[in-house]
Amino acid sequence: MDGKAPAGESGQALTERWQAAQRQEDEFWKRAGVLDGQMQRVLNRYVDAIADLSAQLPQDCAILDVGCGPTCVARLFSVGSKTYIDPLMDSYSATYADRMPAGELICGTAEAIPRPDESFDVVLSANALDHMMNPDAALVEMRRVLKADGVFVLILYTHSPLEAVGRGVLERYVPALRHDAHPYCYIRRSIRKVLERHFIVREQTPVWLTDKLGLRPIHRKEWLFVCEKRPPADADAH
Ligand SMILES: C[S@@+](CC[C@H](N)C(=O)[O-])C[C@H]1O[C@@H](n2cnc3c(N)ncnc32)[C@H](O)[C@@H]1O
Repeated sequence: MDGKAPAGESGQALTERWQAAQRQEDEFWKRAGVLDGQMQRVLNRYVDAIADLSAQLPQDCAILDVGCGPTCVARLFSVGSKTYIDPLMDSYSATYADRMPAGELICGTAEAIPRPDESFDVVLSANALDHMMNPDAALVEMRRVLKADGVFVLILYTHSPLEAVGRGVLERYVPALRHDAHPYCYIRRSIRKVLERHFIVREQTPVWLTDKLGLRPIHRKEWLFVCEKRPPADADAH
């Protein structure tokens, strides 16, 4: 599997696979108490890193959060105007009307961001790339809307090569056992390769991660990548 399209190359199959993932995602976020638990995760893991980034940004910067969910990680930035985009935005706004952050809320996908080129100083995407229909097209769009001197922040789980192979086998041959909400699964090397087609990775920091017993899980790691925009000719050559 390892970053490869889950359902062959056919557009229709990919769309159906993504829609199944999104149904699962929508059900997940509607469960009682889920948002409280997930907000706790966001606060525990990302506050320090985002405070460091905020300190380097001007007050009037423009920040885009792609695949924001109802947690909307970009709300942690202490500066800037925020725009949030997610294909389930209408559902989140209905379910969590009083908990969505201030800012512009867009119902849409990363693969077609309805904003002009170079609109944002920061584009952030947390735990969303492996949920998307076409991560490569999404990265092209996220790079497009980022200013030339902007910062791209990607937060993503990576898995062991063994798990990626196992998940690929289940995805293809035993769909009943597949990881329904995640059409994609990355190992660390593969996400670096994908990212470097569009961005220059400046920092790659492990995110603090423990399971319910306070132990470090061995089957996955979470990373925060801070990237800058690869210049156009350079990006085309990759
Ligand atoms: C696991 S949630 C992450 C939410 C939030 N960023 C967080 O870290 O708590 C994944 C989100 O990605 C969104 N998503 C799925 N496909 C997407 C796409 N094509 N473009 C943008 N977001 C997408 C889902 O709707 C879901 O809200």
